[in-house]
Amino acid sequence: MSNTSKKLFNEFQLNSKITLKNRVVMAPLTRCFAVEGHVPNELAIDYYAKRADVGLIISEATVVHPSGHGYPNTPGIYTSEQIEGWKKITKKVHENNGKMFLQLWHVGRVSHPIYLEGEKPVAPSENALSGRVPRTDDLQYGEVRALETSEVYDMIDAFVKGARNSIAAGFDGVEIHGANGYLIDQFLRQDTNKRTDEFGGSTENRMRFALEIVKRIVDEFGGERVGIRLSPGAYFNLEHTDGDEATFKELLKELEKYNLAYVHTGIFDDTIKFEYLDGTATSFLRRNYNGNIMACGSYTVDDAIESVENEASDLVAIGRPLIANPDFVELAKNSKDLKEYSEEMLQSLN
Ligand SMILES: Cc1cc2nc3c(=O)[nH]c(=O)nc-3n(C[C@H](O)[C@H](O)[C@H](O)COP(=O)(O)O)c2cc1C
Repeated sequence: MSNTSKKLFNEFQLNSKITLKNRVVMAPLTRCFAVEGHVPNELAIDYYAKRADVGLIISEATVVHPSGHGYPNTPGIYTSEQIEGWKKITKKVHENNGKMFLQLWHVGRVSHPIYLEGEKPVAPSENALSGRVPRTDDLQYGEVRALETSEVYDMIDAFVKGARNSIAAGFDGVEIHGANGYLIDQFLRQDTNKRTDEFGGSTENRMRFALEIVKRIVDEFGGERVGIRLSPGAYFNLEHTDGDEATFKELLKELEKYNLAYVHTGIFDDTIKFEYLDGTATSFLRRNYNGNIMACGSYTVDDAIESVENEASDLVAIGRPLIANPDFVELAKNSKDLKEYSEEMLQSLN
């Protein structure tokens, strides 16, 4: 049976400025193929353009400041060469009638001096991550340096500049990466934020970094062009602390003031129920935020159809199945079999 009539595959007016041809979104997927100078690879032009059938493509996480890299060969959006590289990608996506947001990223403490020209990673506080650095043989995460207050303001500026550069590079908008235990998430959490200045301590202070970034980007480009990704369930790169859910409730209430394009769930498996969230990460966002919700995390085609039909979410982002199936929308719409994702597919940018 065809799925053509399902809401998931039909046009969706995201807001007054953006209409999407369907509610399937390509999730942000780090691919580690950037070339010299953290410029996106030319192979990424076709890689993204081939997937322009989705309603919205979100780029792989893209770094806003040289101190924000934590994985090999990740692209940036802080030099003119990087902007020129991205322009070629947005042009081709637009030629294919697609829409694309750039995901603005700073990893904070989730890094190692090998990615930072020998410097220590920077973070809200000095407490370090432990364990092995992914994609290395046996390097361990080591010491981190707490940002000075003035440097926190510099990082806010870097996110704003990243948004400005993204729009200059032809993106339809930006997604602020506030999820998965990276810098913005590190400011939100009591586990990683022990600061005593205006960016630490109270809930209001821990939210300040995220909200300043949102406010300043929205001031320049309007909320319609700005999404944010959040992980209310701590599952990656940091620990949950009692009281974090209160921070997220408060944050979501504040975010309602900005008429954002959407709030996006950052998680790998959205069937996980968190006791402290009283359900799944997406259900928590839905209950506490009055605006577009983008679900994500191990959704099958049927799950995605159901989520949108039941109004559990307005959009569904698909990650790994889109790596395996560039023509995901066409296959899913016609109930055709999908190719199974495997990690070997990460070896090439097809
Ligand atoms: C190879 C790979 C790279 C990823 N890179 C990013 C990223 O750059 N930014 C991000 O927010 N999430 C990233 N994620 C998480 C995905 O966006 C998504 O949340 C996750 O894959 C679950 O969705 P799926 O089950 O549909 O793949 C990545 C996941 C994978 C598998």
